[in-house]
Amino acid sequence: METFNFIPAYPPLPFPLPVWLMQTLLIAGFFLHALPMNVVWGGSVIGAVMFFLGRKDTSSYTYKSAKALAISLPLFISFAITQGIVPLLFLQLLYGPAFYSSSIIMAAPWLSLLAILIVSYYIAYYIIYRVLKNDFGAKTAIKASVWMVIMSIGFAAIASIFSNNMTLMQTPDKWMPLYSNNPHGLNLNLHEPQLLPRYTHFFVSSIAVTGMTLGCFGLYLTKRNAEFSTWLLKLGSRIFLGATILQIPVGLWFLKSLPQSHMAAFMGGDQLVTGVFIASMALMLVSILATAISSASGDRRLFIAGLVSNALLILAMIINRHQLRLMYLNPHVQPDAVAVSTQWDLLAIFLVSTVALILYLVWLSRLVYRAFHTESPAVSNPASANVAST
Ligand code: HEM
Repeated sequence: METFNFIPAYPPLPFPLPVWLMQTLLIAGFFLHALPMNVVWGGSVIGAVMFFLGRKDTSSYTYKSAKALAISLPLFISFAITQGIVPLLFLQLLYGPAFYSSSIIMAAPWLSLLAILIVSYYIAYYIIYRVLKNDFGAKTAIKASVWMVIMSIGFAAIASIFSNNMTLMQTPDKWMPLYSNNPHGLNLNLHEPQLLPRYTHFFVSSIAVTGMTLGCFGLYLTKRNAEFSTWLLKLGSRIFLGATILQIPVGLWFLKSLPQSHMAAFMGGDQLVTGVFIASMALMLVSILATAISSASGDRRLFIAGLVSNALLILAMIINRHQLRLMYLNPHVQPDAVAVSTQWDLLAIFLVSTVALILYLVWLSRLVYRAFHTESPAVSNPASANVAST
């Protein structure tokens, strides 16, 4: 089927920045989105499990860790949302003809994303200010666990909608059949071979990153409670290790689901793509080795080595993901052919706003931290009296 006719042209305006710079900002922006987004999704799953496991003893480390995760989630959600705007901007600019088309074809689930996000975000606060506000018995723990499961379903749905759209935008040959099937936007990209492995890959990674986050809680507690800190470092390392080892077959499954020519690019067919892939495999080995030791000993330095190599591994994988998108889109959409009229003043405003946003998020984190760690019994925050012990 002739697909080219269905791909709209770029708007006649020139790009405000060179393509390479926008691609770099897209990758960097998605990296900043991916880290908190993983904690949001994985944290709601791990939090649900830990509330359930710790239900019989609310003074246990398991329960306390679940509570710490629950309390931090709204912050991670706000990071994920605000840092999602940056890649959204550059995705629209660079690959608008593909991204807008796929978003229209699956408009109903795509727009429902906002409603699901608002409800899930609300549940995160509901858990803190309603569920955990009351007594700390097994009933509270089970209630918190159930709400966390509901919230995790919301985040899983959001992630699934994103994966559907990100895969649909790069396969224009599917647009017309899907549009003919339902012109009202009630479509998903469920027949895409890479959808399930890609989605599973993101899910397993969200569990691994949540493990790292629990370990970071442990690092933070080093001076305040050494025993709890070591417990968290060990647990976080174990969760990361288990998920990352599971990621190996999942990653191979993902690779096998790609068209032959795209898979070959990762296996030596394209030097740059293979180079990034080899680097990510090396980083994975380092993170596995480091966390294997820290999961047994609680060693802080090795945990940090695992943490840093994991962050670099995620960055390398995001670059590979971008290269994969280019393999799909290059025959159909060419941003390089669009004229560029660089507007440095706009870039400066963008960078200043980005820095201001990050400063704001740091300020917000400190504000939330102080609210939950105040020594004063006369706390205006209803949840703080209950959670301050975390
Ligand atoms: C908090 C809940 C969210 C979750 C769990 C989530 C999850 C995900 C996942 C799994 C992907 C990758 C999909 C794939 O490539 O297969 C993704 C991509 C993306 N997300 Fe989010 N997301 C969330 C919220 C948001 C929000 C609110 C925005 C926008 C403000 C956003 C912007 C983006 C963008 C632009 C991409 C694609 C980036 C690119 O392809 O380079 N996300 N998200």
